[in-house]
Amino acid sequence: MNNTQSSYARAIDFHPSEPERLKFLAQSIDPYSYKILEKIPVDKNWRCLDIGTGSGSFAEKLSRCCPEGEVIGTDLDLTNLPEGYSFRAIEHNVITDTFEPESFDLIHARWLLCHLNEREQVLPKIVSWLKPNGWIFIEEAHPFPIESSQNHQYRQVAMGVWEVVANAIGTSADWGRSLPAPLTALGMRNVRIDLCTPTVGDTAMGRFMAATIRLFAKDISAIKNNSLNEIEEIAKRVESAGFYDFGYANISAWGQR
Ligand SMILES: C[S@@+](CC[C@H](N)C(=O)[O-])C[C@H]1O[C@@H](n2cnc3c(N)ncnc32)[C@H](O)[C@@H]1O
Repeated sequence: MNNTQSSYARAIDFHPSEPERLKFLAQSIDPYSYKILEKIPVDKNWRCLDIGTGSGSFAEKLSRCCPEGEVIGTDLDLTNLPEGYSFRAIEHNVITDTFEPESFDLIHARWLLCHLNEREQVLPKIVSWLKPNGWIFIEEAHPFPIESSQNHQYRQVAMGVWEVVANAIGTSADWGRSLPAPLTALGMRNVRIDLCTPTVGDTAMGRFMAATIRLFAKDISAIKNNSLNEIEEIAKRVESAGFYDFGYANISAWGQR
């Protein structure tokens, strides 16, 4: 891999906590993503793609919706998939690799493009893999519920995560917040948007945020005024009952080619 290809991998460094962190992310956001999927007229014969599938939960859902079609889940790293998944998993770099043009009925990517510097080139490429009338469904993380938190310590440390990743690999909140403009600019029709803001505390989002804070604790400590002990205290509180705040928002946009 060259530097561009491996930037996400370098930031996460294939950390041992990654399968569990991705599982918490899926548990938190899947219910919202599945609700939106109900708005797309999915057929049991469809050929679907989930790019940057992570723990594979959305690809799994698609394979239940399309038992007579085909579902492919791609990722740089397939080791975060659980045993016994029921879709076709392919190691595939969306920046450098490709698929046949006009070969999918539905393509989903969640919390992927915000992390890729090449997102402006990658999105048209993804759209070119859609059949005419095929659907794209993009979801992106946004830190605005944390930016406006009145809990100074939580805000400082959790925004520290975002700053660390933005500095390391160019993660952008602005791009996700600009949705659906990147889709309408490509001529997509029937475009819609939605948003959810899961709570932290004793929740899946709380456990995802705590794991993410721990993953980047050293880097946060280097740019913020917090010791590693303070950061760990905040991580513990973020996943505890009685801690009331929000995690990252999930911005969804979908439309038809
Ligand atoms: C934040 S995780 C989201 C996982 C999953 N989409 C979800 O929402 O549960 C981002 C995923 O994208 C994968 N990824 C990052 N860069 C990629 C690339 N260039 N090509 C394919 N997958 C990539 C990562 O390995 C990781 O599994």
